[in-house]
Amino acid sequence: MPTSRLAQPIPVAARVDRFSYAIRNIVVAAQALEARGTRVRYLNIGDPVAFGFQTPPHLVEAVVRAMREGHNGYLPSAGIVEAREAVAADCAARGVGVSPDRVVMTTGTSEGIDLALNALADEGDEVLVPSPTYPLYTAVLATINARPRYYRTDPNHDWLPDLDHLRSLVTPRTRVLVVIDPNNPTGAVYPPAVRRGLIEFAERHGLTILADEVYADTAFDGPTPLLATLDRDAPIISLSSLSKAYLAPGWRTGWMVLGATPRLDNVVAAVKKLADGRLCSPAPMQHAVVAALTGDRSHQARFRRALAERARITADSLNAIPGIRCVPPRAAFYAMPAVSLPPGCTDEDYVLALLGATGILCVYGSGFGMRPEEGTFRIVFLADPDELRAVYADIAAFTRNYLERAG
Ligand SMILES: Cc1ncc(COP(=O)(O)O)c(C=O)c1O
Repeated sequence: MPTSRLAQPIPVAARVDRFSYAIRNIVVAAQALEARGTRVRYLNIGDPVAFGFQTPPHLVEAVVRAMREGHNGYLPSAGIVEAREAVAADCAARGVGVSPDRVVMTTGTSEGIDLALNALADEGDEVLVPSPTYPLYTAVLATINARPRYYRTDPNHDWLPDLDHLRSLVTPRTRVLVVIDPNNPTGAVYPPAVRRGLIEFAERHGLTILADEVYADTAFDGPTPLLATLDRDAPIISLSSLSKAYLAPGWRTGWMVLGATPRLDNVVAAVKKLADGRLCSPAPMQHAVVAALTGDRSHQARFRRALAERARITADSLNAIPGIRCVPPRAAFYAMPAVSLPPGCTDEDYVLALLGATGILCVYGSGFGMRPEEGTFRIVFLADPDELRAVYADIAAFTRNYLERAG
């Protein structure tokens, strides 16, 4: 082979350019700063364990026991029967009867997103995703070459979906409606009327609903009902995992529940066919799903109280900063404030300047599908209350300077 060819960089596939996951991409900038000796406060990734919240001991024991008992081999691709039965029983207890045959154990909600979108959307098809969105939806759509259509959620109305805008986006290519409720990045919880409106809209247009319910048990007022409780016949695929409400994100263990309607029969078969290709999700951890869904959940009430306190500190502190507005979150551990940016500035400029000046790492809203000039950014508020107050004091001082300099 000629040496000139050997010296050429190996090209990567074009889809990599389209693939973007800002929550982790932005870490490069933080690491560069750390290398120069600055302490970085990572408020970019929603991992409760990184902030000292502990995985419930009975879940850890279930995994250790499973490993010791030799459950270390491959599993059927849909998962062990006991875990699928536990998920089905949990759904029944929440008011949605479903057979364990409609449950597929996944490598986190993330794999559920990947399997569902691959099963439902062809190249050129359109998928309705909220703006702001959890960015894995658009990243997966980029790999499929399907098209995201962003429907607005409105900060002036508690970040609820704008149903008129949603209706205006439907085309003959629309296949799926993604609903993230409770929501990352906004912390919104949708009231029943809005949820009903979303289901009616999807039914009118023959869309499958992908209901991301990974934060259902983190809502501060108590668990939110599954979307399918409002219409058991609608084609709803519900996704969840051990990552958030069971404090075990590193285990990469979750589940998808495909609604009982026969309209989803082909999709169930398609998801299982695709799941065959990746063999199975982590085996010992599936035993922890049984422990999680049939055992003690008292940690969740404590977690919700801790989150509610941090959300209050977050909204109060941010709303006290001139130029920043923050809708108080009602679930999960994220807030999506907006800073009134000077003309010509972007959310990324602001977030990178904040990082450079204070070592505080947030994620710019355009990484979630917002317009850069809207000035939104996402904060993870899992740190302890004193640390959070210090963070917000630094954000206040930085923002005052930033806006004065620009003004
Ligand atoms: C809305 C949403 N969906 C899915 C995920 C991925 O979760 P998992 O760890 O279960 O893959 C996250 C993680 O932050 C999320 O916020």
